[in-house]
Amino acid sequence: MDALTLLEQDHQKVKKLMGEIEKTTERGVKTREQLFTKLVDELTIHEKIEEQIFYPAVKERATSKQLEELVTESYEEHHFVDIVKAEIENTPFDSEEWAAKFKVMMENIEHHAFEEEEGKMFPKVRRAFKKDELEDMGTRMEELKDQLMDVLPAEAPRGV
Ligand SMILES: [Fe+2]
Ligand SMILES: [Fe+2]
Repeated sequence: MDALTLLEQDHQKVKKLMGEIEKTTERGVKTREQLFTKLVDELTIHEKIEEQIFYPAVKERATSKQLEELVTESYEEHHFVDIVKAEIENTPFDSEEWAAKFKVMMENIEHHAFEEEEGKMFPKVRRAFKKDELEDMGTRMEELKDQLMDVLPAEAPRGV
């Protein structure tokens, strides 16, 4: 699969999950917890395939300073989401702060995925790479994704 299509599909999946989580309340803690765990898994894998394969390839190929900067910013945006995510993991699922923190995390993810990546970065990437290069990259990303999915549940017991 084309690398950009793969990432866009991930973004849609994440967006859908976040929408479902947003609808949960302090009373639906179990659902909230299950969906959030799923979201964290999705995000962890998505960040990894971008950071290990996609961003380095884009940075190497970047012909403009702007595209290079977009990649550098993206690492920082991942980092920021990771910080908020870690904070949420230390916040009780049934507290009021949980929903507030989640909202901030969601807004940051949406900004990063849709405005920065899909809005600014991906069109430049599509011009900088040949079709078959994007296909190859996508295949490598899918392989890494499969590997990471296999190890995820064994990595650490989930849930707080
Ligand atoms: Fe990203
Ligand atoms: Fe992304």
